[in-house]
Amino acid sequence: MPTYARQAVTFERGEGAWLWDIDGKRYLDAIAGIAVCNLGHAHPAVHQALSEQSGKLLHTSNLYGIDLQAKVADKLTQLSGMDNVFFCNSGTEANEAAIKLARKFGHQNGIENPVILTTEKSFHGRTMGALSATGNDKIKQGFAPLLPGFIHVPYNDIAAIEAAVSADSNIVAVLIEPVQGEGGVNVPASDYLNQIRQLCDRHQILMMLDEIQTGVGRTGSFMAFQQNGIKPDVCTMAKALGNGVPVGACLASGKAAAVLTAGNHGSTFGGNPLACAAVLAVLNTLSDNDLIANAKIKGQQICDQIAQKTTGNPHIKQIRHLGLMIGVELDRPCGELVGKALAQGLLINVTADNTIRLLPPLLIDEQQIVFLTDTLSALIQEFTR
Ligand SMILES: Cc1ncc(COP(=O)(O)O)c(C=O)c1O
Repeated sequence: MPTYARQAVTFERGEGAWLWDIDGKRYLDAIAGIAVCNLGHAHPAVHQALSEQSGKLLHTSNLYGIDLQAKVADKLTQLSGMDNVFFCNSGTEANEAAIKLARKFGHQNGIENPVILTTEKSFHGRTMGALSATGNDKIKQGFAPLLPGFIHVPYNDIAAIEAAVSADSNIVAVLIEPVQGEGGVNVPASDYLNQIRQLCDRHQILMMLDEIQTGVGRTGSFMAFQQNGIKPDVCTMAKALGNGVPVGACLASGKAAAVLTAGNHGSTFGGNPLACAAVLAVLNTLSDNDLIANAKIKGQQICDQIAQKTTGNPHIKQIRHLGLMIGVELDRPCGELVGKALAQGLLINVTADNTIRLLPPLLIDEQQIVFLTDTLSALIQEFTR
């Protein structure tokens, strides 16, 4: 079905931050499959884990024990500080699990019509629950009736959450992105998550974080919330967890960890041996290297270089980032920059119409950073002239 407006390029192979198309032309991948290939392409540890596992066992279903799934759950809870994990196959599914968990939590507390608060400009996925949670009317158009039980307030506005929660006793949870990705790389105030944590504790509602884009080292810590020294009740992950192998996870802690019980939720593929072999390789590689710390340093380098190479350009409204989640907001729609960059061997993305989004692999090196910032800055200068 024609559900995608694709760029006119087809890739054949990759290595680290580089991709080659079917004609042999090389590109620097500064979008990493939309925050998926944090370890770059064809990472040897992931390759080895997948090839070994595919010769052993791909799938048995969750009717039986899965040793690798238990190992991944141990590692994930250790790295995130959460208590337990439900495995699925994508980000939207991870959010569906969170939505179900929040609703059941509400019912357990005598609330018949539980409501989940999310934010305007948020993106939580395309299935009906996650789509209803999403705060973007454009992508909901044509799909009514949406699921009831969601309200949206402005992002980065703690007073708006407080007012909504105080006014509606049916609110059982908030679902928030630590940095809005699709909504324009919107980085909130540094204490936004801390304030949400306090508010949720005060009102005894669940703090749920959608870390599907921010998680797995992207922002300079394994989970973005770790930079705030807090722990949510629920967080969702996907994207970079399998470095390209489809896998998602919904993690819970404390009271939230006991809500979903046998028979409440499930997935045929979720957490199968093949996916878990990839995840384990990803998590071990991240733990054994400086890649997560580097995300902070490299994100800053990229932003500094772009700022320096475009000094004085009044059409750049803001360059913002958390680690290697970077947005360069222009004063005008700039979607055509994607094709211009592609022609010069650079993959970028534009989101929210006027924000150039960069999500390079965490292992991007100094030379690649210079190529990225030279190419992009020159394009911005020419485009805004
Ligand atoms: C914050 C966030 N949540 C959910 C999703 C949906 O994930 P998926 O496309 O794997 O269903 C995305 C995807 O872009 C996302 O960025």
